[in-house]
Amino acid sequence: MCGIVGVLGKHEVSPLLVEALKRLEYRGYDSAGIATVDDGHLDRRRAVGKLINLSDTLVRDPLPGKSGIGHTRWATHGAPTEVNAHPHRAGPVAVVHNGIIENFETLRAELKAQNFGAETDTDTETIALLAQSYLEDGATPDEAVAQTLQRLEGAFALAFLFDGYDDLMIAARRGSPLAISLDDGEAYVGSDAIALAPMTDHLTYLEEGDWAVLTRNSVQIYDAHNQPVERPSEPITPEAGRVEKGGHRHWMAKEIAEQPAVLDQALQHYIRDADLVMPNDAVDFAKVNRVVMVACGTAYYACHVAKYWIERLANLPVEVDVASEFRYREPPIPEGTLAVFVSQSGETADTLAALNYCKGKCPIVAVVNVEGSSIARAADVVLPILAGREIGVASTKAFTCQLAVLAVLALKAARDRGTLTGEQMDAHLDTLTRIPALIAQALNIEDELRDIARDLSEARDILFLGRGAMYPLALEGALKLKEISYIHAEGYASGELKHGPIALVDDSVPVIVFAPTDPLFGKTVSNMQEVMARGGKVVLVSDTQGLSSQRATWHTAQMPDVAELWAPILYAVPAQLLAYHTAIAKGTDVDQPRNLAKSVTVE
Ligand code: F6R
Repeated sequence: MCGIVGVLGKHEVSPLLVEALKRLEYRGYDSAGIATVDDGHLDRRRAVGKLINLSDTLVRDPLPGKSGIGHTRWATHGAPTEVNAHPHRAGPVAVVHNGIIENFETLRAELKAQNFGAETDTDTETIALLAQSYLEDGATPDEAVAQTLQRLEGAFALAFLFDGYDDLMIAARRGSPLAISLDDGEAYVGSDAIALAPMTDHLTYLEEGDWAVLTRNSVQIYDAHNQPVERPSEPITPEAGRVEKGGHRHWMAKEIAEQPAVLDQALQHYIRDADLVMPNDAVDFAKVNRVVMVACGTAYYACHVAKYWIERLANLPVEVDVASEFRYREPPIPEGTLAVFVSQSGETADTLAALNYCKGKCPIVAVVNVEGSSIARAADVVLPILAGREIGVASTKAFTCQLAVLAVLALKAARDRGTLTGEQMDAHLDTLTRIPALIAQALNIEDELRDIARDLSEARDILFLGRGAMYPLALEGALKLKEISYIHAEGYASGELKHGPIALVDDSVPVIVFAPTDPLFGKTVSNMQEVMARGGKVVLVSDTQGLSSQRATWHTAQMPDVAELWAPILYAVPAQLLAYHTAIAKGTDVDQPRNLAKSVTVE
């Protein structure tokens, strides 16, 4: 959350900063701002709301300078106002920050007593004030930053500029990711490769506790103990530079449509010549007696689906937890545990902290989309989901690719543990490789789903139901709908409805049921009848056989037939399209829904 960028350039830097912030806007869009040093003079411009407002401000009131830092904000401390927008300035110091300073109240009180009063509600301003106080005590900028960092508790990626210094930028990271680069007489700092890809072709990722002093021609990195260190430089993948909607109205639409191709790519990476292919050092499930899966949001629901698969195929107990609970619960990690962390961004703060809790206690597998991410780098085994860059805030193709990779992992567990016959394994591999084509077919019912969504957009509350591995999909359907359409939605296990939630049902509440024909179909139908008996308006999403047996539903959506075990991958598509078209019908901002950000790097 929050994106930061910094450039010591050869030319005017404002346009470069704004362009980089555009690429970082997925991290937050509550406000944006830049600061520059021009002939030794530090100044800044800030604007509330999306980046376009900052661009407008800069047209009216340009900001000259070849050295600059920029920020796009997802508000944590203090409302999204101009005063709370970054860069924050205290005297000769300007700073941009991604993260949370947990001891800022204490520091602020201490600084106030020394006459360094705060003007904003933010935690970040404390950082600038601290640095200012050390500079006024006679410290150089490097010394002031080193002393400031020692006082901070919490998570941060920072970039500093100083009045009077045209050729100096200082960067620091603890908890939040940050990369730097020196390229042909220019220096760069950025939250990720995406921000910097158009400017440089290589990056150095700062490690935990590192800070770096950059000029146009030099960089010195220090570790958490202020010792000079070297960190490797890595090439930026061409993928990081590609950011195009390809004719689609929204990133979300593009990413939904891409699913047959990216899923095929992911599956081909792990299934070759009708056999499973895993990294050489991938874990041996024969030595595992328990799997713990940890993630947040949509990635958590992917884990929840995988629990059904791993338990059923490999007869291996799986515990699934949300990272924000797991990290503080201090759960026992007995011998024989394997921990699996799933994250699209690979930067989610809670998931990373949960991983760090498991570090040294058990083998760690990371299922990630961004391969150079913090979670990928901290894991023992990385299984990339190969979804390509996901920009829409609502996760779509990453979810189905996570499911595909977790399906492969479940089959690997079954193979290692000898719980499937050769024929069963072949049949599963064959079915899985056919899923991308089925997804392409499922995308063909978009028109029907658009019509249903028009009716859904009138509702105030919507319920989603599913049984077995379709239950997490009901949760995912509800999450997708509420995050982009702002309609209140809840997902329930079909059988759980009568234990309370059915009290919500009346003729104003649509109930969306994901029910492919499977051994539990009859039971789900009974739950549906209970809803209809109370006036509930049922939308049944099922296959030909499932729909033929049902009458009196409000709407139906006909899906292709699919092997019941892998149905959640396919049924993700109607869940996504219903949410997308409901949001369109409501006129909400599909790609940048309110209050959300793509990469959740704070707790
Ligand atoms: C919902 C969504 C979020 C993320 C969650 C975890 O559409 O995108 O719920 O799934 O914030 O993010 P990652 O996967 O990056 O760890």
